[in-house]
Amino acid sequence: MIMRGGDVRHEKQTRVISALPSGAALAAAAALAAEALAAGKLAAFPTETVYGLGADASSGEAVAGIYAAKSRPAFNPLIAHVSSAEKARKLGIFNEDALKLAKAFWPGPLTLVVPICDECPVSDLARAGLPSLAIRVPAHPVAQAILEAFGRPVVAPSANRSGRISPTTAAHVLEELDGRCDIIVDGGPCAVGLESTIVSCLETPPRILRPGGVTLEELQSICPGTGIFSAEAAGADGGAEGDLLAPGMMASHYAPRARVRLNARDIHAGEAVLDFAGQLAHLVPAGAAHADLSPQGDLREAAARLFACLRALDAGAASTIAVAPVPATGLGAAINDRLKRAAAER
Ligand code: TXA
Ligand code: MG
Repeated sequence: MIMRGGDVRHEKQTRVISALPSGAALAAAAALAAEALAAGKLAAFPTETVYGLGADASSGEAVAGIYAAKSRPAFNPLIAHVSSAEKARKLGIFNEDALKLAKAFWPGPLTLVVPICDECPVSDLARAGLPSLAIRVPAHPVAQAILEAFGRPVVAPSANRSGRISPTTAAHVLEELDGRCDIIVDGGPCAVGLESTIVSCLETPPRILRPGGVTLEELQSICPGTGIFSAEAAGADGGAEGDLLAPGMMASHYAPRARVRLNARDIHAGEAVLDFAGQLAHLVPAGAAHADLSPQGDLREAAARLFACLRALDAGAASTIAVAPVPATGLGAAINDRLKRAAAER
């Protein structure tokens, strides 16, 4: 990054390394990524949710590089990633609920917010000065190998520029961050496709701050009282409580260039169409760009394809994307959350 007269210029040589197939290629890519992280560089890598943009969590300078590369507001804290629950417990204070959730869902698409402990090495900047820390143990073999090789916590937001659609392939990361990060490790498309569920264990019972890859129903099967934090209930902008609990949950996020029109039951002239279970198939005009999140109506498949479909339709000429209704149950809660933010006024 070069600064001239207040201008920020991003001029890194971004290198894409394949971690496929697993085995020697994976080990070599993980070693290179870990080496880059140790040198204070930025390394993007796949997790089972979305690709993350990683930096050494304990280096304020490396963390500052993430905020610059993403043009991310510094009040929005980052998730610290480690390779095991045992390592996670060295970063924060886990109450009984946090221990149960960690045991049930780690490694996996769950992030727990817990109070930091005295020895927590994660930089103040990464936590946006909060006394709490968001921690995740991802299951993806490439993320696991990099975290194991590096040995210390890695902060990793989704590897997109702030406010834009999260990346689920290495090609998406390159579109977003070419010249802004040092290494992109290609591990193929992400299986879950939506970010991790963020659960605050700062209170009892725990509360979901962001719906994601682990559903409310799954969480409640382990901690029955688990609730949902609602920014609407706390005030229009999340209120003072919202600022504190979910600092990064902006109304507009995951925003394509095109406008997004939700719960479409018809199609207007010139619109691109994002369908679910073929509901709009018979209405799509000849020549209109059209994708179906899951022709069979499978929410898991829809989640995995959501961001890639939005990106593909956004690359066409349409100025609006009409989106079919998606059921709100199970993973549908997280899909609808992302669609709502993609459609929000900017
Ligand atoms: O699936 C994921 O979680 C991906 C992969 C790469 O791990 N990461 C991700 O990070 O989605 P990011 O930075 O895009 O979203 C992290 C969210 C932000 O909304 C942030 O405000 C919130 O986590 N967060 C971080 N620390 C927090 C804290 N102490 N309390 C409440 N929310 C926190
Ligand atoms: Mg993000």
